[in-house]
Amino acid sequence: MPFVERVFSGVQPTGNLHLGNYLGAIVNFVKLQETHNCIYCVVDMHAITQGLDVWGGPAELARNTREVTAAFIASGIDPNKQIVFNQSQVSGHAELAWIFNCVARMGWLNRMTQFKEKAGKDRENASVGLYDYPVLMAADILLYRATHVPVGEDQKQHLELSRDIAQKFNNDFGDSIRGHGANDGLFFPLPEPLITGPATRVMSLRDGTKKMSKSDASDNSRINLTDDADTIAQKVRKAKTDPEPLPIEEKGLEARPEADNLVGIFAALSGRSKAEVLRDFGGGQFSSFKNALVELCVTKLSPIAGEMKRLVADPGHIDAILNGGADRARAIADETMKLSKDIVGFIRPR
Ligand code: AMP
Ligand code: TRP
Repeated sequence: MPFVERVFSGVQPTGNLHLGNYLGAIVNFVKLQETHNCIYCVVDMHAITQGLDVWGGPAELARNTREVTAAFIASGIDPNKQIVFNQSQVSGHAELAWIFNCVARMGWLNRMTQFKEKAGKDRENASVGLYDYPVLMAADILLYRATHVPVGEDQKQHLELSRDIAQKFNNDFGDSIRGHGANDGLFFPLPEPLITGPATRVMSLRDGTKKMSKSDASDNSRINLTDDADTIAQKVRKAKTDPEPLPIEEKGLEARPEADNLVGIFAALSGRSKAEVLRDFGGGQFSSFKNALVELCVTKLSPIAGEMKRLVADPGHIDAILNGGADRARAIADETMKLSKDIVGFIRPR
């Protein structure tokens, strides 16, 4: 019997959400609600894996957790139909991560490029949590035995690791799993990444070879979901381009990272392909294309920013949503933990 399809994804409450988070992840979260049961998690435990200077301390963490929740809802996620909660409220994430720590191999984690990037040169000084980050991520997904995970391109390697962990757990505990009524000897599904749309990797507005990121020192490198119309206009007009007019065909975007990025953003925001966008703007100068892009960004993002502002003004309401979501998440998580503990041989409380 195949696993029931279930969607899980997470976003870290660190810094400002930007257009990359929106187009690479959140837009797809919203779409998947139509066809799937979805669980969307604000991963506050992942947020504290880097230095205090990155996550900002307790007050900032709580504020950012509510802001990401507000962004989900303002973008169209329905917290009554889907489960929206923050990770630290469900203890199963940490518990399953421990079991997975003993399944995952050092050699697997040593290959993770995101750790290398985030740890930088001073690897000795990175937290153990940062190294272990992908194991916690596997626990997030598999605690709900989720089958599909919408993410941006940068999370592909972490998803592969989640599959490896699921597979090794299923193999290592094969005999025990069969005694616990699992799906054809599989206790955990092998989760599939859903990396879709024309903007799975939105690049910095200042450098088309670098990912748009919360941690870039220059605020001009990204469009934040909370930017007002004037700020968006300024950032888009200042965005780096090259001296050539826009190409007529998509092939002409190769080796032109900045042009490719802006066309990709336009395509994603307007729900069209890059080829269709070039049919309208190909052969023209960047200046008129940028004017159209400003208008599109403002039309799409301003209502979200407005709604986010309204929502964060009532933290009690957001906390009630997170509490309610956590209760529903816990009901699923507890069942997985109960079975996982039995499979491993941990004696449970009566
Ligand atoms: P994070 O902010 O790192 O928790 O990322 C949340 C989601 O946004 C993940 O699914 C990422 O893959 C996605 N994401 C982050 N940055 C980008 C980007 N520049 N382009 C596309 N997707 C992104
Ligand atoms: N690592 C993801 C990111 O930085 C966030 C994340 C944590 C996540 N747990 C997850 C994404 C589980 C998908 C599924 O973007």
